Amino acid sequence: MTTQEMYEQINKWKKEKNAIILAHYYQRPEIQDIADYVGDSLALSQMASKTDADIIVFCGVHFMAETAKLLSPQKKVLLPVMEAGCVMANMMREEDIKKYREEHPDTIILMYVNSTARCKQYADVCVTSSNGLKIIDHYAKLGKPMLYGPDRNLGKYAMQKSKDIKLDLWPGFCGIHNGRTKEEVLKAKAEHPNAEFIAHPECKLEVLEEAAFVGSTKGLIEYVTKSECKEFIVGTECGVIHEMEKRCPDKKFYLLSNMFNCFEMKLTHLEDLYNCLRDETNEIEIPEDIAVRARKCVDKMLELSK
Ligand code: 13P
Ligand code: SF4
Repeated sequence: MTTQEMYEQINKWKKEKNAIILAHYYQRPEIQDIADYVGDSLALSQMASKTDADIIVFCGVHFMAETAKLLSPQKKVLLPVMEAGCVMANMMREEDIKKYREEHPDTIILMYVNSTARCKQYADVCVTSSNGLKIIDHYAKLGKPMLYGPDRNLGKYAMQKSKDIKLDLWPGFCGIHNGRTKEEVLKAKAEHPNAEFIAHPECKLEVLEEAAFVGSTKGLIEYVTKSECKEFIVGTECGVIHEMEKRCPDKKFYLLSNMFNCFEMKLTHLEDLYNCLRDETNEIEIPEDIAVRARKCVDKMLELSK
């Protein structure tokens, strides 16, 4: 079957089943191209909470589909490849955050969206790369102790941005973002002297300090679209370049490192999406007691993101 034939069939099923396809910017180009909506973690959560579709096929990783399910409990949320996880989300175990909560009852727990619903149960609020600084800043004003996790890098970045922010940090990170170095950035800048370097906040501080702009996947795409600069060194996963090139055919994009390839995101192929929508398999299910507790911190995030 050709890609075009698959697209036609997928579109037919979408209409018949009242289904919507959401895809993250790190998905393969052929998946982004058939999606009804492509976005960053926050935008996809917002879309999941608004849609009146009966079925959401979420092309991304497990925690993202879980978040969509938390926000749309009455809808069928399908993840084409159930094994597509997130290395960072797996760096926080439920028993550890539960223990932390019990030992620190007065601490505000700010939970990066890259976390399981089981862990979100213990958080006061959820954050993403696009609203993280704003929400952390909001809670810092309360003057209470705060934990941020599992992504220690965005936490360090928030503390560097504002002296009023003091966070206890969970020792988690994204292997591919955290692995990038200042040396790599300097080398890329020397190779492309007219390019601006832009980065995702999951990178280490030494890398972020070299960036002309730091933002979520959506933020980075919007930045290059508006910027007058014509060349960019991209400090996040390779998938974003598809949308950047679509929006800015006259601009050049250089990936900082070939390591910027999220194996988990790339597990989903067009065939998986096709089979998943046809058979309505791989449904995300969250036990009701967990969902009720975990939903609160995601709702709180959406309220603060308005
Ligand atoms: P965004 O929220 O910026 O899309 O990032 C998600 C992610 O997993 C980055 O590695
Ligand atoms: Fe998780 Fe890193 Fe992949 Fe983002 S890029 S989904 S943080 S493993």
